[in-house]
Amino acid sequence: MLALIKLGGSIVTFKDKPLAFNAPAVEGISRMLKTISDDVQIIVVHGGGSFGHYYSVIYDMHSKPAEYSREGISKVRCSMIDLNNRITSVMLEQGLRPYTVHPSSFIDAGKVAIGNRIEELYNISKDGLIPVTHGDVMHYQDNLYYILSGDEIMSILAEYLRERVGIALFTLAVDGVYKDMQSRELIRELRYASDASMDDVSMDVTGGMRRKVREGFKIASLGIDVWFVNGMHPERVADVLRGKDTIGTVIRGDRK
Ligand code: IPE
Repeated sequence: MLALIKLGGSIVTFKDKPLAFNAPAVEGISRMLKTISDDVQIIVVHGGGSFGHYYSVIYDMHSKPAEYSREGISKVRCSMIDLNNRITSVMLEQGLRPYTVHPSSFIDAGKVAIGNRIEELYNISKDGLIPVTHGDVMHYQDNLYYILSGDEIMSILAEYLRERVGIALFTLAVDGVYKDMQSRELIRELRYASDASMDDVSMDVTGGMRRKVREGFKIASLGIDVWFVNGMHPERVADVLRGKDTIGTVIRGDRK
């Protein structure tokens, strides 16, 4: 089975502190992935958290292609490479075999996914390596650039590898998708996006959650089960990958 795993920016970094890498969280998840890596093929996608996101906010950069600050583009890219290097170093230390593939190598100008390069990620995952990719600032065309989120990359990979992907898992810093932010009532199975209350939280989290749920439904429409679990509890990640029920939110894959 192939599992697509998104390591959210709120897990791999301390989101409220600029450029703060959360090594213990990445260690915890890596240790857990090590226990299942002989049985499950894995592709990891990580977010930007207090690295890429930090600069994209400072330089007012978004997912819409535009003429953003050159300094901002460089800083976002450099910070993502830095974060990627820290994540893969920890994975390596924990006995995993990460293999970074930057998104620009499988997504072309104009945001066109390159099918055979995505196929290559799958082949690499078969070889006992874990392809690791990440959200990034991407060249669109002419002098236009855009921010590509790791959540969108999850959907792109799911679409191209749909026959092979058994599960898509998003790790968050909360237990899953809540019905209501005040009571923090967890939705165990999400059937309609409208069931989830994504209001009453800070802008960043709202945008982030809304996007994740939207990408989650896209992936589920391909027939793939999509899970949202708390990455601070790595045993839940392992449960999902072992096909066990756990604390989190699932959107069941809808194979039509
Ligand atoms: C962030 O990717 C990409 C950049 C800002 C460069 P994500 O949007 O997937 O990051 P998180 O997981 O929400 O932090």
